[in-house]
Amino acid sequence: MKVLLGVTGGIAVYKACELVRRLKDGEHEVTVVMTESASRFVTPLTFEVLSGRPVGRSLFDVDDPQIEHIRLARWPDCIAIAPATAHTIGRIANGLADDLLSTVVMASSPEVPVVVAPAMNTMMWENPLVAANLDRLRDVDEGRRYRIVEPVAKELACGEMGVGGLADEASILAAIVESRTTR
Ligand SMILES: Cc1cc2nc3c(=O)[nH]c(=O)nc-3n(C[C@H](O)[C@H](O)[C@H](O)COP(=O)(O)O)c2cc1C
Repeated sequence: MKVLLGVTGGIAVYKACELVRRLKDGEHEVTVVMTESASRFVTPLTFEVLSGRPVGRSLFDVDDPQIEHIRLARWPDCIAIAPATAHTIGRIANGLADDLLSTVVMASSPEVPVVVAPAMNTMMWENPLVAANLDRLRDVDEGRRYRIVEPVAKELACGEMGVGGLADEASILAAIVESRTTR
């Protein structure tokens, strides 16, 4: 399976490294697209080495004569966003396309499933605006387009206890694989 993994700017970015390894172990092809914020946490080089492919980062700074976001949008069988920040969820739920990842999602075919694994502080997770954005995604195409992998309760990186931790890699991997068969 061709998986485009969107990585956004939360502390759980390091777990996306393990997810790439697991996807590769399962013989999936992985292309990583990072947001600008994500690259503050882990360098693109790490994902480049783990995936064995160039990492997408910018809408505009590309040498390729092809339009990068359209090329990327046509490539995957599944788009997965892990970790997914409140901000990126808000962008996608509202049809915004102001960076490479959100533009790729907007430009992708409605047949391509999008697995979204949120990770954030509990207060952000419980914020009614974030919840409304997630509901909006869940409602698209009766739940067939966007698959939300619910975050778990744990002690979060900020030291607070509550729901908001990124789901484990096995659950995200299972949702990616299942998304193809249940479309
Ligand atoms: C140390 C640190 C940790 C953060 N962790 C998260 C997080 O886990 N989830 C989240 O939604 N935002 C988190 N943020 C805020 C996002 O980085 C911020 O909203 C950013 O605009 C997200 O951009 P992006 O969605 O384009 O990656 C964190 C910020 C910092 C500085």
